[in-house]
Amino acid sequence: MKGLVFTTFFSFCEARYGADLLEDVIEGANLPNGGAYTSVGTYPFEEMVALITAAVQATGTAMPAMLEAFGAHCFATWVTKFPHLFDGKDLFDVLAGIDGFHETEVRKLYPDAELPSFKVITRDSDRLVVDYVSCKPLADLAVGVIRGAAEHLGSPVEIGYRQGTDAVRFEIRRARSLMAA
Ligand code: HEM
Repeated sequence: MKGLVFTTFFSFCEARYGADLLEDVIEGANLPNGGAYTSVGTYPFEEMVALITAAVQATGTAMPAMLEAFGAHCFATWVTKFPHLFDGKDLFDVLAGIDGFHETEVRKLYPDAELPSFKVITRDSDRLVVDYVSCKPLADLAVGVIRGAAEHLGSPVEIGYRQGTDAVRFEIRRARSLMAA
């Protein structure tokens, strides 16, 4: 996993829970390198699992909620590298184009990144169904990244998913405001 995900996790923990808790989390995770990561380095996924598990234990937050909040923070942080590719766009266009974005822009910065894929299954103006394939069990993180994108683009949605055999199927629906109902 790219070091960028680790450095982003540290900024997430610090912003949400404070510097002292972040120190406890790094200590609790018992990392071989003591928590030193560079964004372009590549590190074992097990170290991220140890960090997230330590944060879950230190805060009493459930794992899915922790991953989702971290995912939203990832989008908010990472979008600042490419604002022109996201700002003013429609959320469904962004999500439908994320493989292309990962494989071009992200690949240029991180050639050995293990990037997930999102394949559009069906799409209409209110509902988008995509299959998420990743070598890592990070569907709840993906929910958070999508939620972060939705917030950034000012496009409220409801997100659900179910685990299939080869992919996790996401259903994203535009949320209707009560006023419009
Ligand atoms: C709507 C927008 C986006 C979605 C839905 C998305 C989704 C994801 C998800 C779910 C992962 C977790 C890894 C996995 O499943 O294996 C991931 C990884 C990653 N994404 Fe994205 N992403 C988005 C935007 C971005 C942006 C703006 C960047 C800019 C830097 C980015 C760069 C990366 C990198 C570097 C990884 C880590 C790969 C690795 O560890 O090897 N993504 N993305």
